[in-house]
Amino acid sequence: MTTLLERAFFGRAPLPRVDLPGPPARPLVGWRGNLVDLMRDPLAALYRVHACCGELGGLTEGNGAMVFAFGPEHNRALSTDVDRMVPFLALFPAPEGSAVERIRDHILFSVHGERHSEERRVLGPPLHRRRLERWVAAIDAIAEQHVAALPRGAVIDAPAILQTFTLEVILRIVFGVDAADRSRAAEAAAMRDFLTRVLDVLGDPSAALLPIDLPGFPYRRALHLVERFEREARRLAASSTADGLITDLSAPPREALTGRLFALLTAGHETGYAALCWILALLAQHPAVLAELAEELRALGPEPGFDALWAAPLLDAVIKESLRVLPTAAYGARRLLQPLELGGVPLAAGAVVVFSHLITHHLARCFPDPHRFDPSRWRGPSPSPWAYLPFGSGPRACPGADLARVEIKIFLARFLARYWPELPEGDEVVPKLRLTLRPERLRLRLLPAHSRLPRPIDAGPRWRRLVAPGC
Ligand code: HEM
Repeated sequence: MTTLLERAFFGRAPLPRVDLPGPPARPLVGWRGNLVDLMRDPLAALYRVHACCGELGGLTEGNGAMVFAFGPEHNRALSTDVDRMVPFLALFPAPEGSAVERIRDHILFSVHGERHSEERRVLGPPLHRRRLERWVAAIDAIAEQHVAALPRGAVIDAPAILQTFTLEVILRIVFGVDAADRSRAAEAAAMRDFLTRVLDVLGDPSAALLPIDLPGFPYRRALHLVERFEREARRLAASSTADGLITDLSAPPREALTGRLFALLTAGHETGYAALCWILALLAQHPAVLAELAEELRALGPEPGFDALWAAPLLDAVIKESLRVLPTAAYGARRLLQPLELGGVPLAAGAVVVFSHLITHHLARCFPDPHRFDPSRWRGPSPSPWAYLPFGSGPRACPGADLARVEIKIFLARFLARYWPELPEGDEVVPKLRLTLRPERLRLRLLPAHSRLPRPIDAGPRWRRLVAPGC
């Protein structure tokens, strides 16, 4: 088990010890116990390493295989020096000729150097804000359809609804699939189902730990699921309308198509819906901000033009502040292709370095009173791109950031015109970190907008750890 674990993470080469602090090793299993903890509960593990080591530490004392580097200076080194490292994905092993192999070899997250720049030239421009303007009416229609269907006064399962919204947006943009068109609703629903299951598999380490291709094993299920994802995505691509991004994504090389679709469809909805969940939960806990934001939106009129919505200052500040306090991309990791000196510590090629947007966003030296949700802090000068990086920074910064902002702004405008969210008394909000930071469960009561303000509740210790009590 430990050998499989080590191979899944670090390959075969032994890495030298380095002069780094780290949390104590576990009895019997040693530092591997800490690795298991990291896989089981990454959020707790990040906090544990930070509390025990500060801004640079190992998995255990002296451990050079996996290093944790927090704070703007380390973020900068890990975000700019892109040729010396690649994002580390604990993907399960890929059989030759499989869909997993096609994804691994071509997806933007795992290529580097000239291949990375080429892929950015394909994926970047179509996702730019100005190019997205042609989708604004379609995104607005999807938002309106979702909000209009919500049961007034009821308590909703927010993640399920918001995930369907961001999925429909990405399917519309990539394939031109309109889920309201009944002839294509089944295809859209099937792809939604695949994506949810594929993301569950990727967030579960058991397929990587036990790569046994036999019936009943999670690895076999994961391989089949990704194959079916590819078939389904290619089928949708073949029948998609000409206005979808699929035209841009079909640029050569041909083998890159699966990886591009996979990147856009997974990254393109998962982080966005988690961000919307957090924004609504934070507004429910901060009624004064909610009231001010609702006034700002009301002043824009019932059908605000997109430029007015894009420029609305408090709406922008609320989104920025939510992504600071609860960044859905809460951590990342790089595998070093060459040796690197970090904070004066020499690290060997092969080492994995974990960094964290979440921990950095909560450093008091970067953001005073860091656990407080306070959109007014965005009235001042912008922080450095290495201290505040919800969409990453440098050459690997998120190419979908404009799309995420567009869909979040449109949804919030439609939602808050009708409803104000309230957390039901007695509910605990539990932030859970797998691929992204999202709520394990989030129920919201839909108060009619402008009726009464939501009452903030005590949402439990795990919420309080990240967010200071609201006003
Ligand atoms: C709130 C929503 C989103 C957040 C918080 C977010 C966050 C991030 C972050 C932090 C990175 C950098 C990862 C790294 O440094 O290794 C990233 C990369 C990426 N994101 Fe997003 N993202 C969001 C939405 C989207 C959307 C809507 C799309 C596509 C439609 C997208 C596609 C990608 C891709 C393809 C990359 C890889 C970039 C590269 O390696 O060059 N993301 N995202």
